[in-house]
Amino acid sequence: MTTSVRDMQERGLGATLRRDAWWAAPALTALVLGSFGIYATWAAWTGAHYEWGPYLSPFYSPLLKPSWWPLSPAFLILVFPLGFRMTCYYYRKAYYRAFFLDPVACSVGEPRHGYRGETKFPFILQNMHRFFMYAAVIFIFILAYDVYLATRWPVGGMLADDTPAPGLREFGLGVGTLVMTLNVVLLACYTFGCHSLRHLIGGGVDCYSCARGGRARFRLWRGVTALNKNHMLWAWCSLFSVALTDVYIRLCAMGVISDIRIF
Ligand code: FES
Repeated sequence: MTTSVRDMQERGLGATLRRDAWWAAPALTALVLGSFGIYATWAAWTGAHYEWGPYLSPFYSPLLKPSWWPLSPAFLILVFPLGFRMTCYYYRKAYYRAFFLDPVACSVGEPRHGYRGETKFPFILQNMHRFFMYAAVIFIFILAYDVYLATRWPVGGMLADDTPAPGLREFGLGVGTLVMTLNVVLLACYTFGCHSLRHLIGGGVDCYSCARGGRARFRLWRGVTALNKNHMLWAWCSLFSVALTDVYIRLCAMGVISDIRIF
């Protein structure tokens, strides 16, 4: 009597006929996403060392400091980028496999046999991705403005506490400016390749030449599609760049490293 793949799946979690390292990808995903989650929570919680000179950490942008808010300012804004990533179609696949083991990999036994998809609470909230996408697009422009501010250096130099001296500003470029620029480019590639945005632009159109603004929509759709093809790559690259940008600015603010002013 032979054992089918279906039989193995029904025996429970981890049962499989596969002989390859199917567990490597979910394990690596759990390690990286878990590490990012711990670091991001800590960085947001501290409420300190998030700006240096003209640089501002992406975890704290836009910087809001209302007097009635008792916690770190990061918690006022992080719900938007966090919600965007958590409801992203790609990340859903990645963390369902890595953290819920559901399904952990193709042709590998799952922890349960019923399936309700994302039709019940709390997973039905994944449908909010479209709305988080609207916020994420706005955040790209905010972070791009931060890059512009990171080129505006105080003529009077820095004060003793590493804040910019008040008064006139001049154009300048530091390594931090380049780090922030790379971060916003990678974030834009991730955000503008969103499946939901692609659907918003072209999902309801059967014939571009017949639709209103069809030519422009077709061009936009082609651009989003080009980014969408590598959505997973942009998802990971932008995750790393956000963390590394915060680390760079944090280390500068803590005096561990010195930013290099290129000109
Ligand atoms: Fe990944 Fe929208 S599907 S960001």
